[in-house]
Amino acid sequence: MRRPAPPSRAARRPAQAELITVAVPKGRLLEESSALFERALGVSPRRLLEGTRKLAADAPEAGLRFISTRAADVASYVEHGAAAVGIVGLDVLRENPCDLYEPLDLGIGRCRIVVARPRDARPLPRGVAPRVATKYVSIATGHFGRKGVPAEVIPLNGSIEVAPSLGLADAIVDITETGETLRANGLMIEELVLDVSARLVVNRVALKLHPERLRRLIDALRGAVEAAGVATASPMAKPR
Ligand code: PRP
Repeated sequence: MRRPAPPSRAARRPAQAELITVAVPKGRLLEESSALFERALGVSPRRLLEGTRKLAADAPEAGLRFISTRAADVASYVEHGAAAVGIVGLDVLRENPCDLYEPLDLGIGRCRIVVARPRDARPLPRGVAPRVATKYVSIATGHFGRKGVPAEVIPLNGSIEVAPSLGLADAIVDITETGETLRANGLMIEELVLDVSARLVVNRVALKLHPERLRRLIDALRGAVEAAGVATASPMAKPR
């Protein structure tokens, strides 16, 4: 009878723990996200990813793989399980609701979604539906709907603040951080719609598959957020 073949070298090697994939947004939030990971776990996704066209970088010492994606895409990567964890602005989450676990307000990327109007505009005659330009169509529609105002929402992708001066809209719904862009375009804030900050999001299946590792990661990030005093006093980047 033939003896069974000895296990191959690969089979004898202890299985390497699977890396947890974390989607971090490119752009303004990368700096603050990286600082959080550095404080929490001693690894900086920005440093791992900078100076390379590679969009993924491993930090095996922390059991993590970072992928760099557009801020607006992070939630999709996590919802579909391509990443277990991600960092997403609340504006993105509320505009395009996803089935994600949102365990932690990271306290970074603070800004506001507001309704703004031209400083010198006269109030619209009663019964006239305001035309509102925005890239947050769903948030704006929900806001005016709850108030019972029959607004006509005009979708735009950027440079929203110029729409009123061109006669395209009576008002806008947009993100503001410093208020500089509103002021420079002759607009003033009329109402707050949503306070925004970046959230940690987690894929629900991943949480079932790796409950302890993900709990440890969430707890480490929570500790870093708390240690930073929820970062309320620091200059914030916008989460998009
Ligand atoms: C956002 C927003 C405003 C600006 C506000 O634009 O749409 O234009 O930032 O910031 P402030 O209050 O500090 O002036 P962003 O730079 O994200 O570009 P976008 O409009 O093209 O998305």
